[in-house]
Parts: sequence; C-alpha cells; structure tokens
Amino acid sequence: MSASRAPLERRLCICVGAGGVGKTTMAAAIALGRAARGERVAVITIDPAPRLARALGFAELDGEPQLVAGAGELWAMRLDPKRTLDELIASLAPDAGTRDAALSNRIYRELSSAVAGSQEFSAVAKLYELDRDGSFDAIILDTPPSRNALDFLDAPGRLMRFFDGRAIRMLLSQGGLATKVAGRASSPLLSVVARLTGGDVLREITAFITTIASMVDGLHARASAVSALLRDPATSFVLVSSPRREAVTEAIAFAGELERARLGLSALVVNRVRTATGGADDLLALEPLIGPRLSALVCASVADLAALAAADGLALERLRAAFPSFEPVSVPELPFEVHDLAGLRRVARHLGYRVSSSSEASPSAAQ
Ligand SMILES: Nc1ncnc2c1ncn2[C@@H]1O[C@H](COP(=O)(O)OP(=O)(O)OP(=O)(O)O)[C@@H](O)[C@H]1O
Ligand SMILES: [Mg+2]
Repeated sequence: MSASRAPLERRLCICVGAGGVGKTTMAAAIALGRAARGERVAVITIDPAPRLARALGFAELDGEPQLVAGAGELWAMRLDPKRTLDELIASLAPDAGTRDAALSNRIYRELSSAVAGSQEFSAVAKLYELDRDGSFDAIILDTPPSRNALDFLDAPGRLMRFFDGRAIRMLLSQGGLATKVAGRASSPLLSVVARLTGGDVLREITAFITTIASMVDGLHARASAVSALLRDPATSFVLVSSPRREAVTEAIAFAGELERARLGLSALVVNRVRTATGGADDLLALEPLIGPRLSALVCASVADLAALAAADGLALERLRAAFPSFEPVSVPELPFEVHDLAGLRRVARHLGYRVSSSSEASPSAAQ
C-alpha cells in the first residue's frame, strides 16, 4: 500500500470538501472497499440528503446502523442530531429523575436546536460514541458541503464556548438568574418575565437550569474528548476535490482552515479527472470504417477531451505543489452517475481497493 493511500486505512476517515465534489461517493466507496477486505465498517452521513442511502440501496437511512446487502459487513446510518443529544444528556444525567426532567423540558428542546453548533456537536459526539463502543473496525464519515463541514469540525469548541459563555455562567452562577428564579422570582425583572411568559415557562426555565447544571461538567468533558478524537492520529481527514479551477482553489483554502483548526489533513482525493483517450493511429484506423465526416467529428471530440485532460493535468500539478507531503489519489470521471453499488465498486477500485464486481464482497480477494 502506498503512503498516499495509508490515510484511507485509518480507523476514522472523515470526507470533507466543497459542495458536489464527491464526498458522499468517496465515503461510500472507501467504506465498501474496506468492507470487501473483511473489516466491519460503518459509513455515516450527517447530510439529510438521501444520496448515500440511495447509492447503498435504501430508501432512507436513520440513526440505527443498517446492513448493506451484498457488501460484507458494511453498515450505513444517518446521524440524528436530536436523538444523539438526547442520548448524551441521558447518559450524563446523575439519575433517572434528572434525565426525564431534562429531556421533557421545553427549554431544553428549544435550546438543543437553537445553540449554534449543537447539531454538529451531537454528530461528532455520536462518532465518539461509536468509536468508543468498538463494534466497528472502521468508521467513515460523509459531511455536508464545506461551510457546514467547518461548522461541524469546530462544533466541540463552539459548544464549550457556549458553556463557558457569559450567559450560561451568569445563569448558573451562585446568586445568578437560576438561583433567583429558583428563589421565587423576587426581582422585578423576573416577575415581569413571569407575568409575560406565564408561570409554567418560568418553572421550566428553573427546572432546565437546575438539571443542566448537574451535567455541565460532563458536557465539557465530552466536548474535550470529542475534540481530542478529531485530532487523534487514528483519525484521517480526507479532502475531496474536483480538478476544476474553482474547486482546486476552494480545496487549498479548505486545507488552510483545517490546519488553522489544528485538524490534520492526511489525504487528498481528486475526483472526476478526465483523461485523453485514443491516439492518432486509432483515429486514422477509424476513417475507412466510419467515413470522413464521422471520423472528423470523432477527431474533434477527441481533441476536446485532450484539452480537458490537459487542464485536469495542470490542476493536479497545482494540487501537488500546494500539498507536497502527499500524492493526490486520482479518480477518473466515469461515464455514468455513481448511484448504486456497482458504480461505487468502480470508484473503490480506483481508490486502490480490490473489490470484485460481483454482488458479494469477497474478503479473500483483497488480502
Ligand atoms: N468519478 C465520478 N464520475 C462520475 N460521476 C461522479 C463521480 N463521482 C461522483 N459523481 C457524481 O457526482 C455527483 C455528486 O457526487 P456526491 O454526491 O458524492 O458529491 P458531494 O460532495 O457529496 O455533494 P454534496 O456537497 O452536495 O453533499 C453525484 O451525482 C455522483 O453520482
Ligand atoms: Mg454529499
């Protein structure tokens, strides 16, 4: 296995990159390739779009891993951020009463979707849970387009900042709003709040603050552990790009952002690379068979393709110059959309995996 492919072999692979470059396709193909080698693999998407589900033969995916038919031990799931956050809160609650109170609390429900990054945080929290759980040899994560992916990568940090933030500290501090609310809304401000919102809401705020207070340390610890997992040497960020000029510029910028976030990039996949086909001799041999008019048309389109292939070659050079420490893994433009297992197997083979074209993955084929 060459050094450039080794990152695709790490326990956790996170496919990142700009919109539409092939992150979902690569995540599924890496997972398929590794499952074909006999590994038990989970491929996970946090994207609500059903593309991964469809490509793997499901109408849709949910928060439970589902076994992909005909692909060895390949399991697919879609992260359900709300459910994950609920599970996390449930696991951090000191007792069943606190757990039920927190989960049924309306303020928690509002806040859990309103806090910036809590969705993304719960996604990485799930990744952490699956990693710790140890039921998979490899976990491959597909992410939404780059802007969201960055939100996602910074999620543990943002959630910690939220809990470190002034508002929540004020709420949780001794003599802060929580205590005052708990102490029966003695201040005029709070009695106004109480009048405006109704006694129930005030009671819920109080309950939320007191229950969540018992979990802040646990949430902090989990956010740190998740953050450490993203920076662990067993975690690999696989940056996917297309050879188009704008995509290459975005990929280079994206790598810079990863570096600033201290998240190590370890592989670069350039997807949909066009290659020139047919030499001058082939074209000459065609003319007697198809006639001069058709042959001229074929020549013109071969020339177009050669120009596109040359442009893609330059894009690869630009990427090599920007990322001198690893050789890009190049996947060609296929003559069809990759929307099923057969297409994914083709991509997996281009990534260096030995995947047979038959419907069953064959562990022995790749040893
Ligand atoms: N090598 C390839 N050859 C031909 N088509 C491809 C190839 N790779 C991906 N595609 C097609 O490109 C489209 C986009 O791929 P994909 O959904 O994997 O991108 P994405 O980066 O996950 O997109 P998004 O950012 O919207 O989530 C899909 O229709 C897929 O079938
Ligand atoms: Mg996608």
